[in-house]
Amino acid sequence: MRTRNLASTAAAGAVVALATMAATAQNAEMKMEAPTKAVAVLIPTKTGGSIAGTITFRKGEKGTRVLAELTGVPAGKHGFHIHEFGDASSPDGKAAGGHFDPKGTKKHGDPSKADVRHLGDLGNIEADDSGKATYDKEYPDLPLDMILGHGVVVHEKADDFGQPVGNAGGRLAVGVIGVAKGN
Ligand code: CU
Ligand code: ZN
Repeated sequence: MRTRNLASTAAAGAVVALATMAATAQNAEMKMEAPTKAVAVLIPTKTGGSIAGTITFRKGEKGTRVLAELTGVPAGKHGFHIHEFGDASSPDGKAAGGHFDPKGTKKHGDPSKADVRHLGDLGNIEADDSGKATYDKEYPDLPLDMILGHGVVVHEKADDFGQPVGNAGGRLAVGVIGVAKGN
């Protein structure tokens, strides 16, 4: 009898502990608000030279506003896309995978024209002779929560919007989109 009582007391204790843990987890979940700002810091690939910069994604009134300020970019246009993987581990940038295409359109496009495109197609980012490149566009169809954890890539050449991925060549830099501090 005594052993049995001890066992049931222990079991009851475990149930209370589990219930407390569940309640704590639920509270944490309820307190967590949807992020309103994300950030990606570029890491140059082996061919990326001194390219550097930050890309921010903010929840705007009409969708997600994408802002970039880069330095060390060769003059001219460079394909600029969200890629499938937030993986900057390979020296050629290829671990970032292909264009982010959660809708499965399998169609590359110009975001200023094509409604049907890979969701990650952000067109081009253009650098001046000093190597500075800026970007500021708002996308109504790009949910901030959907792109978290994915990658962003700056390419060697311009995106000419040809199939399948815009002929933008190699990868100069890769960044990982994460939740920003201080939403
Ligand atoms: Cu790309
Ligand atoms: Zn694409």
